[in-house]
Amino acid sequence: MSHGENSGITAPVSIDDYRGYAGLPPLAGLLSMREATTQGLTVAESVERIKRIHWALKRLHSIFVARIPATAIYELKMAFSLHAHYCAEHVSALARRVREMRQPPYGLEVSPDAMLDIFFDEVLAAPAVGALLVGIYEKALPSVTRALTNLMADTNRLFDHPTYRVCRFALLEMEEAQRYGVEAVRCLVKDEDRKALGDWPATLDRMLAAAGDLVGKAARSGESVERQFSVTPYRYDPAPRRDQRFIDPYNMGVNAEAMLFDPGVEPLPKTIMLYFKRMREIDVPEMMSSILTEVTGKPWEYYRDMTRQLWDEARHAMMGEVGFVSLGVDWTRIPFNFTWSLGLNTKLNAKERHAVLFTIEQGLMPRRNGKEQEWEIGVATASPLTAMIQDYDWADEVLHARIGKDWLVPEIGSQVAAMEYGDQAWSKVLVDWKKWKDDGLTAHRNWWPEVYRSACLHWGTEPDPELLAYNTTYENTRADLKEVGVS
Ligand SMILES: [Fe+2]
Ligand SMILES: [Fe+2]
Ligand SMILES: [Fe+2]
Repeated sequence: MSHGENSGITAPVSIDDYRGYAGLPPLAGLLSMREATTQGLTVAESVERIKRIHWALKRLHSIFVARIPATAIYELKMAFSLHAHYCAEHVSALARRVREMRQPPYGLEVSPDAMLDIFFDEVLAAPAVGALLVGIYEKALPSVTRALTNLMADTNRLFDHPTYRVCRFALLEMEEAQRYGVEAVRCLVKDEDRKALGDWPATLDRMLAAAGDLVGKAARSGESVERQFSVTPYRYDPAPRRDQRFIDPYNMGVNAEAMLFDPGVEPLPKTIMLYFKRMREIDVPEMMSSILTEVTGKPWEYYRDMTRQLWDEARHAMMGEVGFVSLGVDWTRIPFNFTWSLGLNTKLNAKERHAVLFTIEQGLMPRRNGKEQEWEIGVATASPLTAMIQDYDWADEVLHARIGKDWLVPEIGSQVAAMEYGDQAWSKVLVDWKKWKDDGLTAHRNWWPEVYRSACLHWGTEPDPELLAYNTTYENTRADLKEVGVS
């Protein structure tokens, strides 16, 4: 069929000149017509790449989580908590995308490449913090951002838009994590640390090359690279360690709750106890690490929810830190004991630990002596910062009580049974105030007067002599320390 010159049909427009009505960008502005006609992966190719990124984020998640307790540096515990949360969220999003692509979700539970797994085993087994940071932030995370960038560049942004979209959000947070990592390496990995690593970083590169990089796009070198740090399989270390700023870790010399919920004490000095309780929450990520590491075989949503909670607890600790800095108080003078995470991680199994956490968090929900009252005290201090800290702490803790209801209660049978189970579990953890003192682990020094004086300087008030003499310890609280809620 041919058309004459007067048929009304215009000459073909070249792809590069193609525009929409009145010059509007075509294709919802996602890409040019040239790109739309020339780019793209098959569904199978796209899925294969997503699966590799999904697996890498899963492995990275478990590395971040596993290394929280024994990594002593507080800032790294906090950053690992955040980066674990990012990984957990994107694992969910990528798995959901795989399920949308005419693919049964097969293969999400298994490694896409044995050499990739050895690569992550090596990073997990990194013996010192310097090696760990280099492994994560110079090798593993960049392989993820490369893979995401390549997938976004190669796939068709129209045809495979949902993939493009989940990758874009993942990249945003992975790049943020990597920027932090670059700073962490700069601050903590000295030349001699790097020398001590020898050719390990190059070994990691060879492992990635053997697997054709994470994206699986480069040719696989196929080389069989020998394990170095993971020759002896990694063993999880649940014992919490803290850096040297955290003094006197068995100290239970100042009972925060006894003052906080004493109606006879005016609100403002209670600010210190609120900040103390928040920063003490550093022990919850240390403890949740062991649950997440040891519980296997749950749906990913379990790990995602629990990691979200782990990150919230880390945020609460940092909210306390913000509070102390705002008061000009040197928080390194305050002992934040680690006996809770130490006791739970070394004396109880994962189900018992979760039940103890659940019991404590449920105990914070009633109107009295719980999160709501802490918020009221925060408001009564007339400090917008303190009120805001408690506002969000309360909101998050309500969410945590629900996460416990979603995951622990069905496992145990009922809420009452779960609370009883948690109570019994906690009674197995020996908290012996007097013995710690007798054994010389702590003198239970009363840190209150010094910190109270320092805060009064900031407030421009005179310390109240009666309050300055506050000297109530945790010695006579119930043996199960239930009211010493960690949250
Ligand atoms: Fe919580
Ligand atoms: Fe908490
Ligand atoms: Fe909290």
